[in-house]
Amino acid sequence: MQRILITGANRGLGLEFATQLLARGAHVVATCRDPAKANALNHLAAAHPGRLHVLPLDVSQPATIDELVRETALVFDGLDTLINNAGVLVPGERFGSLDVQTMEHTFRVNAVGPVLVTQACADLLRRGTTPKVANVSSQLGSIGHCGSFGTPSYSISKAALNMGMVQLAHALEPDGIPVLLLHPGWARTDMGGPNAQVDPAVAVAGMLREIDALTLKTSGRFRDWQGHDLPW
Ligand SMILES: NC(=O)c1ccc[n+]([C@@H]2O[C@H](COP(=O)([O-])OP(=O)(O)OC[C@H]3O[C@@H](n4cnc5c(N)ncnc54)[C@H](OP(=O)(O)O)[C@@H]3O)[C@@H](O)[C@H]2O)c1
Repeated sequence: MQRILITGANRGLGLEFATQLLARGAHVVATCRDPAKANALNHLAAAHPGRLHVLPLDVSQPATIDELVRETALVFDGLDTLINNAGVLVPGERFGSLDVQTMEHTFRVNAVGPVLVTQACADLLRRGTTPKVANVSSQLGSIGHCGSFGTPSYSISKAALNMGMVQLAHALEPDGIPVLLLHPGWARTDMGGPNAQVDPAVAVAGMLREIDALTLKTSGRFRDWQGHDLPW
């Protein structure tokens, strides 16, 4: 049975990852900032007794990362896949009024958090069966793809996430742990909005195909949900 940890699993793509992985028979630790308010996750837990554990995690708070790893080790003796999904996008930034709080918070959640979560989970991953790390990045973090000003804090943070995870792909290579960066497409979630093009279920099914196919040979790649390589 696959043992999987997902961050930001109370809504959007994270909730869809949990739903699809449970349907496949996986054993899931689904993290969210406030488990008491995570109604959809708690319903999923009731529908999959013993296979879904809902644990607290704010990826911007290192103390909660340490606590999560301690609690995860009580339910899993190894981790097969870590999915760094949690992310934040602050809309409406304008050139001329960019502010340090938005930039720092976005960087902390989208770039620093996943790197620290992965580092903290490394021992559990080393004890996994064919362990992997998948990260939900974004095409908006692609420097090669950037053709206009927009969502600067988010785009900067996802570019930093990409470099952070290429660094970790090298750090984890000796342990046989591959690392992947994924773009889900423009998906209909709270972040993507109602006009987004891709159904979250389709985006997640596509990303799971890429995660399933991930090996050390493809570690450190940046791919979209349809399997296309993206420029850095
Ligand atoms: N939707 C798209 O079109 C799109 C495109 C490219 C990339 N992505 C990426 O896909 C991932 C999931 O996005 P989504 O579309 O599902 O967005 P979403 O519906 O806004 O969900 C974001 C998730 O991240 C969690 N989160 C935010 N800040 C957090 C923190 N400090 N600690 C822990 N969890 C935190 C949220 O928890 P709360 O409920 O507590 O806020 C929520 O569970 C993100 O990394 C996003 O950047 C999305």
